[in-house]
Amino acid sequence: MFSSDLVKKFNNLPTPFYYYDTDILKNNLKSLNNYLRSNNKVHFSVKSNTNKRILEIVKSYNLGIDAVSYNEIKHCLDQGFESKDIVFAGVGKTDEEIKKAIENDIAYFNVESFQELDVINQLSKKQSKLTEVSIRINPNIFSETNKKIQTGSKDDKFGVQLEDISKFSDYDKLSNINISGIHFHIGSQILNLSPFEKLCKITNETISYLEKNGVTIKKINVGGGLGIDYMDPENNLESNFKDFIHLFNSKIKLKNNQSIHFELGRSIVGQCGFLISKILYTKKSYNKNFIVLDSGMNNLIRPALYNSKHKISNISSSSNKIEAYDIVGPICESTDTFAKDYEMVESKRGDFVVIYSCGAYAESMSSNYNLRDNIKSYYSDTI
Ligand code: LLP
Repeated sequence: MFSSDLVKKFNNLPTPFYYYDTDILKNNLKSLNNYLRSNNKVHFSVKSNTNKRILEIVKSYNLGIDAVSYNEIKHCLDQGFESKDIVFAGVGKTDEEIKKAIENDIAYFNVESFQELDVINQLSKKQSKLTEVSIRINPNIFSETNKKIQTGSKDDKFGVQLEDISKFSDYDKLSNINISGIHFHIGSQILNLSPFEKLCKITNETISYLEKNGVTIKKINVGGGLGIDYMDPENNLESNFKDFIHLFNSKIKLKNNQSIHFELGRSIVGQCGFLISKILYTKKSYNKNFIVLDSGMNNLIRPALYNSKHKISNISSSSNKIEAYDIVGPICESTDTFAKDYEMVESKRGDFVVIYSCGAYAESMSSNYNLRDNIKSYYSDTI
């Protein structure tokens, strides 16, 4: 994947940087679109990657946007997405954000509490508009993923409890909102599809309960969360959209005017991005062999924040000898560690190191901690 020609090109670029392979992204999007039906709509979860070039490609495959702040909405409008293709989620939307989103006629809000529903109704009234809303329900489904990225268990802050769907019909009577959808998102980086199967069952039960109680649901938004292979990315560049999309299409009982909406982030962009660094120093200390990279947790916070594992390779060493290294960054925090006791070819100062699967939640979660500079992004079709 990282041929010597490509590494030669990297030699002219200041490290560290994000490298995006646009073919990987396009192939993945093509595959996603292959499995969609006419009553499916995918909103790209832009929190996973806000890079303009990436958004341009995502847009060209006709995806909409799942935004979680007005700034994300504005950013996507500026990139040419249409407001009718943007949905607005988030557990803490401010009045100002709600007001601007209504002004922009976005597709609908994913609402996370009844108080928020009242606020949207009032702000919508001020603009004499009828605002489409979906209510996010916390289905209390456990998903086998990192505890820190689970969102659908009963103690999580997201959505309203399942028992409260009995209140929807009263709220639907508010004059300036129309409850036309339900929304779920049970967590992220989920590889075992059985929690999604449970979600389908709860979805069917919820829709029929609401129908009986006079609330007509048109949009069934099942969120995102499909995981990617962080251990063997090169052999799994395309996500398992086939099984994921098929599961919902086969298990959710739809009526003619109903559609299923997905909000995918990681599974779309995760494998197309890489963090490219150079080794600044190598050193031995007590029992450890350290590699100090010129990129740190400010460029990829996932290992520090969630103890996430990413594949890492030295792409310029010619050695065959394998050593165990702690691969760390330059930030003044011990948690600025990408991997511990990681087996890699013998490495030296100046070698290029690539961290795989950095297309999602790397650049978008980056910071200037330690007052480090923002780093650049380069693309396979333009370097
Ligand atoms: N919809 C909602 C309501 C969400 O909260 C999220 C992600 C998504 C969709 C997209 O999920 P995805 O398809 O990307 O799994 N920073 C963490 C992940 C946090 C996910 C936040 N919500 C990480 O690096 O693993």
